[in-house]
Amino acid sequence: MASHSLLLLPGDGIGAEIMKEVEKVVDWFNENSDMTFDTTEGHVGGAAYDRHGQAISDEDMAKALEVDAVIFGAVGGPKWDKVPYDVRPEAGLLRLRKEMELFANLRPAICYPALADASSLKPEVVEGLDILIVRELTGGVYFGEPKEITDLGNGQKRGVDTQVYDTYEIERISKVAFELARTRNNKVTSMEKRNVMKSGVLWNEVVTETHKNGFDDVELDHMLADAGGMQLVRWPKQFDVIVTDNLFGDMLSDVAAMLTGSLGMLPSASLGAPDPVTGKRKALYEPVHGSAPDIAGTGAANPIAMIASFAMALRYSFEEVGAADKVEKAIEATLEKGLRTKDLAKDGDTVVTTAEMGEAIVAELAALNA
Ligand code: NAD
Ligand code: IPM
Ligand code: MN
Repeated sequence: MASHSLLLLPGDGIGAEIMKEVEKVVDWFNENSDMTFDTTEGHVGGAAYDRHGQAISDEDMAKALEVDAVIFGAVGGPKWDKVPYDVRPEAGLLRLRKEMELFANLRPAICYPALADASSLKPEVVEGLDILIVRELTGGVYFGEPKEITDLGNGQKRGVDTQVYDTYEIERISKVAFELARTRNNKVTSMEKRNVMKSGVLWNEVVTETHKNGFDDVELDHMLADAGGMQLVRWPKQFDVIVTDNLFGDMLSDVAAMLTGSLGMLPSASLGAPDPVTGKRKALYEPVHGSAPDIAGTGAANPIAMIASFAMALRYSFEEVGAADKVEKAIEATLEKGLRTKDLAKDGDTVVTTAEMGEAIVAELAALNA
């Protein structure tokens, strides 16, 4: 019997609401499969700040480094707008990514057939869409130094963020993209802005070099990231795997989310390098969206991105591909039956709450098992 340890970090806003729903899925597997998940809960973001004055405590950070996988809800919200920058809610997530060395962030954007008309784009543009954004997650402008606001002494201040990439960081993320492309449609599009950024020039060179050295069976294209954003809404089905830096990946994945119907649909996996001895990777699974303060507490949050993130944990941390497929099929079947949270609903659709959507997905899991 395989036993896996999970650290649940619900966070803030809708984070706690969607975490409740993924826990129902975890419980279902505990009761109906030969896997067991041993879960502990911690605090992150504003929820941790309110308790410890830190965006994540050292104790929860240590747990995150020990468990097989972290399941993360969302952080942030207006309540913490005025807290010091270093302990703002988002700093908890960035610390997890950095200390766990989660350099590879996989953000799949899949348009389920039942949702082809939920997108703000024409159905023919998004129907059948299945792309994967591979976002570099521990480098670039998020972490580069200096990062500061300085007083220029003449009544002016200067805000500085630094975009930095070293060869090894670009090489390892491009390898992840090429390897994943081989399991899909064998095509990678690398996006940067080599026309204005030195780090973009290096990005382009290193991706090209990595491609030559062992991945030339994979089709490779390069695109300037601004044009890439345009192509994502013009004809997204031209893409298979997109590999890009931390900041462009953040923005392009929110854009890609809308191709699937809602930001509430996009899951993600953040992975470290495999341990040289055990082969295990540190991993954190989280929806792409945030804490959605505008709908928190109303029962309107879509839990699908969170539940689909657990499916990614089954696939990437536990090699339980069958179970992962089952969760994704249960999501698809629930949508086929016309159930929609408010973010996905059109006139005439049955609008369900966060909890009803979670329960319906669990019911479909049970039906698939019957
Ligand atoms: P957001 O993703 O929280 O929300 C953007 C819009 O999408 C809102 O209208 C929201 O209601 C909607 N939305 C998001 N998730 C949804 C879901 N599951 N179901 C239905 N609707 C959903 O982005 P924001 O409003 O720009 O940011 C709010 C806070 O979240 C900020 O503090 C930000 O820093 C933080 N944030 C955290 C994460 C994270 O924890 N990974 C990601 C993004 C933003
Ligand atoms: C995301 C979020 C985070 C990011 C924030 C909350 C730090 O927007 O995961 O997409 O910018 O990476
Ligand atoms: Mn984001």
